[in-house]
Amino acid sequence: MKFSKFGQKFTQPTGISQLMDDLGDALKSDQPVNMLGGGNPAKINAVNELFLETYKALGLDNDAGVPNSSAIISMANYSNPQGDAAFIEALVGFFNRHYDWNLTAENIALTNGSQNAFFYLFNLFGGAFSDKSNTDNQTVDKSILLPLTPEYIGYSDVHVEGQHFAAVLPHIDEVTHEGEEGFFKYRVDFEALENLPALKEGRIGAICCSRPTNPTGNVLTDEEMARLAEIAKRYEIPLIIDNAYGMPFPNIIYSDAHLNWDDNTILCFSLSKIGLPGMRTGIIVAAPEVIEAVSAMNAVVNLAPTRFGAAIATPLVADDRIKQLSDDVIKPFYQQQAKTAITLLKKELGDYPLVIHKPEGAIFLWLWFKDLPISTSELYETLKEKGTLIVPSEYFFPGVDVSDYKHAHECIRMSIAADEQTLTDGIAVIGEVVRGLYDEAK
Ligand SMILES: Cc1ncc(COP(=O)(O)O)c(C=O)c1O
Repeated sequence: MKFSKFGQKFTQPTGISQLMDDLGDALKSDQPVNMLGGGNPAKINAVNELFLETYKALGLDNDAGVPNSSAIISMANYSNPQGDAAFIEALVGFFNRHYDWNLTAENIALTNGSQNAFFYLFNLFGGAFSDKSNTDNQTVDKSILLPLTPEYIGYSDVHVEGQHFAAVLPHIDEVTHEGEEGFFKYRVDFEALENLPALKEGRIGAICCSRPTNPTGNVLTDEEMARLAEIAKRYEIPLIIDNAYGMPFPNIIYSDAHLNWDDNTILCFSLSKIGLPGMRTGIIVAAPEVIEAVSAMNAVVNLAPTRFGAAIATPLVADDRIKQLSDDVIKPFYQQQAKTAITLLKKELGDYPLVIHKPEGAIFLWLWFKDLPISTSELYETLKEKGTLIVPSEYFFPGVDVSDYKHAHECIRMSIAADEQTLTDGIAVIGEVVRGLYDEAK
């Protein structure tokens, strides 16, 4: 069968699709696997219990009695393309209670997961734009500016045609973490960013960053965010902030950071990392014209977004339990996981040239093996043979030609969502293999 260019674009094998297949196969395999590779959130009892309780309160599991009528009405009808109105109302109340944003329902749309939101937004603001200054009907090709790579792997292939990214490599600062050496932190290279020809020449359609960042756990500082917001306004382009791991839920963020919104900012949220990735629920907060555009795209692509996540989350958002759960359970859980993993890593590789990105949030650690004798894509293969899965760094640089950028081949992303035994076993394998590589090269 022949596929259109669109079909070919989305079906061609990419490095990352093969990697994702590996991760999927590992989960199905009957061999024990130390899964430190995926993006699934941890299974936390208190979280699961609350979701189950909320689900039961909907009455959907009640085959003897009469199910709660509002839940059935919501499930038995499409919402309008903007998304479930009761959930949107609850979100308006929630955000206005916790932030000074003065939102109305016109500022919020729902999507089937935030990945779906990035598909819409990156195609709305990246790609071919008609150039009004040009009488020959020519188009201008605009890119999404990623102010600090490494960035989220899932952005890479969402453009319907080609890839439209401009990316800036980071400054790397050596820092301490809880008084200890052996850590680094990425910072935005604003000089390089401001001098990007694409920015100066009007070929950037939006700026986007994840905060905390997947894969590194970096949290851009409030000062960095304020500068990005100012640059976005100056160039009359939106600033998209991906809060999949950020404030106010799941709030896996340990540094002192604040979240701002104005009508030049597009905030994306998700229910996935609080523990509901299967619900596929994403939330966009933006100016009404963006919400109208997203709703129109929802109508074409999905008719309407799913209402199941909305039904579960509405009561939790309405009475702030989602925030308590995030602050009191989810955030401390991952902070402890990061501590445990760092202790294990230091034990295994304390005398070797490992530096760790300062853990400031998200569900990963980002490890840099300075001058590793092989690339981390090769390291990935060796670790896979030994039953341990991580993700090598080269995939996390959308918009960058990494062939000559050594740092992009020296890092790995390691999930900290696994249980303690898996962390211990997986890190022991990483330690043994990496020690061997450095020792052989001496
Ligand atoms: C930074 C970031 N953004 C967005 C997403 C997409 O999440 P979802 O579509 O489940 O909301 C992910 C998933 O791993 C992520 O890590």
